[in-house]
Amino acid sequence: MIALSLAEIAEVVGGQTHDIPDPSVQVTGSVVRDSREVEPGSLFVAFVGERVDGHDFAEAVVAGGAAAVLGSRPVGVPAIVVPDVQRALGALARHVVRRLGATLVALTGSAGKTSTKDLIAQVLQHKAPTVWTPGSFNNEIGLPLTALSATEDTRFLVLEMGARGAGHIRYLTGLTPPRIGLVLNVGTAHIGEFGGREQIAEAKGEIIEGLPADGAAILNADDPLVRAMASRTKAKVILFGESGEADVRAENVRLTDSGQPSFMLHTPSGCSDVTMRLYGEHHVSNALAAAAVAHELGMSVAEIAIALSEAGSLSRWRMEVTERPDGVTIVNDAYNANPESMRAALRALAAMGKGRRTWAVLGKMAELGDEALAEHDAVGRLAVRLNVSKLVAVGGREASWLQLGAYNEGSWGEESVHVSDAQAAVDLLRSELRPGDVVLVKASRSVGLESIAEALLAGGTQGEVAAR
Ligand SMILES: Nc1ncnc2c1ncn2[C@@H]1O[C@H](COP(=O)(O)OP(=O)(O)OP(=O)(O)O)[C@@H](O)[C@H]1O
Ligand SMILES: [Mg+2]
Repeated sequence: MIALSLAEIAEVVGGQTHDIPDPSVQVTGSVVRDSREVEPGSLFVAFVGERVDGHDFAEAVVAGGAAAVLGSRPVGVPAIVVPDVQRALGALARHVVRRLGATLVALTGSAGKTSTKDLIAQVLQHKAPTVWTPGSFNNEIGLPLTALSATEDTRFLVLEMGARGAGHIRYLTGLTPPRIGLVLNVGTAHIGEFGGREQIAEAKGEIIEGLPADGAAILNADDPLVRAMASRTKAKVILFGESGEADVRAENVRLTDSGQPSFMLHTPSGCSDVTMRLYGEHHVSNALAAAAVAHELGMSVAEIAIALSEAGSLSRWRMEVTERPDGVTIVNDAYNANPESMRAALRALAAMGKGRRTWAVLGKMAELGDEALAEHDAVGRLAVRLNVSKLVAVGGREASWLQLGAYNEGSWGEESVHVSDAQAAVDLLRSELRPGDVVLVKASRSVGLESIAEALLAGGTQGEVAAR
């Protein structure tokens, strides 16, 4: 964090100082909620959780070098005490981003936030020091902690914002008001909590409502619910996508033999070829969104194309490709799944598996409501149409729909199989995999199929799938 005295922090958050002999002492280190991350000069934020009370660590963190604790009760060591720690943390973040000269970029969407945030960060990093959300730290606690990790040098702050209902994003943009707001897509993630796609669009669009007139709203031209958000902002609108009306678009999209997307990137300042290191076509849309942000921030198309071509995967289990010593390739995309990314992952598998045996180890796609049967059936059929050598459908009812789709598309023999759980899938794969095979593992987050990929990478022929 930028250096602030305890007195100033207490004033900003409206807190009482307790056991602080010298209020001019400065917080010079990070602001953290996990006692293991404390470093000299840190501010430790104590939350009362269901199982753990952060205040219990107060003495230990101060002994470990923390300057003070921000909490809801005195703890016998230097502390700033407030009635609501989350609000106080938010107020501190708001104060700090106002003081920073950094440009704030905020993004949301139903799928691809983390992938796109990681791309934007890697592209902007080419131009100037950039701080971004680690992993998916995108809620009312992760967001202010990320903002507080910026320093005097930070020029760009890239913030992932998540929402589970109306008003959530408005709260987050109130803490860290962006100059650039980006909406990727409106899908079906958490549709149960929202009520419907229109409600999701209503909530996601909050990210562009407070933009300043000299800011930019970056919207997906290919998603009608996102495109329609243009009327909700006074900022300039920049469209990205494959649609002809997009300001930043991709032409001639194809997958290389290794499953990596390649395309001609067009921006208002020219065009340039991009071949990505990431796997799967769904990253084209994410890359265009990142290119639109970078264009708005003054990067040339050549710089953007180089940065996109160099960008790697910063967050785990998203098309994570690992070669085993015996020549089996494992593609771990078990972080999450929706119909679009399932199709993209299968196409990438087919491309990288040319001339090799390919395995699609797939589980359920959650939150599809009435579409669930049709979508699972369609994915099973696509696996057959793409000539995937073997489909292993893992789990309950939805897995049986995947397998039935494959069966009905013509995979009658050994080419598709339904197993009840991850352990059964691992047992099957261990006995059947041969050098040169390529294995894709993918399902919704709640299914936890990464255990399959991890068990296969742990090697050997023994071992259990870890319990979740
Ligand atoms: N543009 C996209 N469209 C559809 N699916 C995508 C897209 N980008 C990534 N995905 C898929 O969504 C999954 C989750 O990606 P990512 O973690 O980037 O999304 P997220 O929106 O940050 O998710 P969360 O809500 O869990 O934070 C990936 O495994 C991938 O399969
Ligand atoms: Mg995320």
